[in-house]
Amino acid sequence: MIAERPTQPSRLGTRSRLGGTEGNEILTASTAAALTLLLLAEGVTILRLDGLRSLHMFIGLVLIPPVLLKLGSTGYRMVKYYAGSSPYRRKGPPALPMRLLAPVLVLATVGVFASGVALLLLGHRSDTLMLLHKASFILWGVVFGLHFLVYLQRMLRSVADGWRASQRPSVPGAGARAMLLAASLGGGLALALTLLGTITSWHGGGGGG
Ligand code: HEM
Repeated sequence: MIAERPTQPSRLGTRSRLGGTEGNEILTASTAAALTLLLLAEGVTILRLDGLRSLHMFIGLVLIPPVLLKLGSTGYRMVKYYAGSSPYRRKGPPALPMRLLAPVLVLATVGVFASGVALLLLGHRSDTLMLLHKASFILWGVVFGLHFLVYLQRMLRSVADGWRASQRPSVPGAGARAMLLAASLGGGLALALTLLGTITSWHGGGGGG
């Protein structure tokens, strides 16, 4: 995926053609920043679900590719670390509590999105799917809240690093990172627009399991 060709050490890690560990951290943080804005908008729709149900489903679908990009960039770091890549070994793993929390966060995220998409495709409410959607949302809310608070400062710092890097080529790969993030947001928008008919024909009735 991202070729490792170390050249010189830097504040955040070892550089390579695409920025190495530093580029990986900037990609994770920029994706997290975009996700934060979309999740805030999704949060507003949850507060007024009756009036904003279609928007809730639309933004939920837009979120899917950027969520996958975030899982990809953090998963890449994990794979490189366990595969023994020396720059990633030098950088070290995330703090232990966050490593323990990560699988729960991934499972809860998959639960919220899978049950949401299942509800959408079903076309109406189902007690079982609503229960799954709600329960995974509550678990996700608790774990994500912790994850967000712990990483907020780092995210802001890395986004600032990423911005400076795009102004002067100190961390290589700024173009590739911007393209990945833009492609994930564009892909999400395309997915939501493709399913617009299914969203607008969703009706609350139907009940049952
Ligand atoms: C593809 C993404 C998603 C789809 C298609 C989707 C779809 C839905 C649908 C159809 C409902 C039921 C609306 C109603 O009863 O009127 C719902 C409710 C809800 N969704 Fe989603 N959703 C998605 C993502 C999310 C995300 C990312 C979150 C939170 C992070 C979330 C949180 C909730 C909550 C809290 C409810 C209210 C449950 C209740 O009635 O108490 N959803 N969603």
